[in-house]
Amino acid sequence: MSTVERTEVAYEVGRLGVRLNSTDGPRQVLREISFDVAAGEIVGIVGRSGVGKTTLLRVLGGLLAPSSGTVILGDQAVHGPPADVVVVFQDYDNALLPWRTVERNVALGLESTLPRRERRARVEWALRLVGLEGRGGEYPRRLSGGMAQRVQIARALAVRPTVLLMDEPFGALDALTKSALQDVLLNIHGETRTTIVFITHDLDEAIYLSDRVLVLAGAPGTITEALPTGLPRPRDQLATRELPGYLRVRHQLGEALRADHG
Ligand SMILES: Nc1ncnc2c1ncn2[C@@H]1O[C@H](COP(=O)(O)OP(=O)(O)OP(=O)(O)O)[C@@H](O)[C@H]1O
Ligand SMILES: [Mg+2]
Repeated sequence: MSTVERTEVAYEVGRLGVRLNSTDGPRQVLREISFDVAAGEIVGIVGRSGVGKTTLLRVLGGLLAPSSGTVILGDQAVHGPPADVVVVFQDYDNALLPWRTVERNVALGLESTLPRRERRARVEWALRLVGLEGRGGEYPRRLSGGMAQRVQIARALAVRPTVLLMDEPFGALDALTKSALQDVLLNIHGETRTTIVFITHDLDEAIYLSDRVLVLAGAPGTITEALPTGLPRPRDQLATRELPGYLRVRHQLGEALRADHG
């Protein structure tokens, strides 16, 4: 007898299409995109520049209405930004309010929902998750890029989202800071089980972090591959990247993207 494991679905995307206005009239940017994201899953999305990754993430976050198809979060259709979804943008230089301390930046999404004491506890919890405990009193201008990005992630986590959407979260960081923050993200996921959908240009980052990697390709963009990574957790920056399964997925992704360029 086998036990059937019921996986809770976070997102259900069905036959999604997006048309946007360009200078030469309306242009189909995304077409026939269908995929599910399981609750607690980490899904990475890769694809060439301009293929429509940010556009897809904006649709998932309810920031852009699709021209066709459906996006269902839990059991509700997405029309506008859902309360339990938070988006982390790539441009962390402009994401923080310079006149507010780190602590008050992190508290930004909590001010109308939590009383002061709980807010303070929540902010401390979020800063600890990203390894910035004790830094709450500083101002953004005194932070390095990596630290500013941690603050943005802490702010996102402070509202205890069910889903975290991230657009190239570590794209602008140096290699060492990037791998440190990848591990911060994996630890956070281990602790909170937040569903994470993120975009990256970096195939290795996609495989290292994800349960599944989706390839967005073509024009208009559509999902051409959905590869489960099948890698054990906890992951390790050296050992995981040397596993045969890792290299196999790396090869498949490389071919899928090469085909899209060719
Ligand atoms: N608001 C908009 N209005 C019209 N066209 C847009 C708009 N936003 C994006 N586009 C176009 O849609 C296409 C996809 O853009 P998108 O930003 O989603 O790509 P991307 O895959 O995120 O690229 P990159 O990797 O460079 O960030 C591009 O051709 C872009 O010019
Ligand atoms: Mg983009």
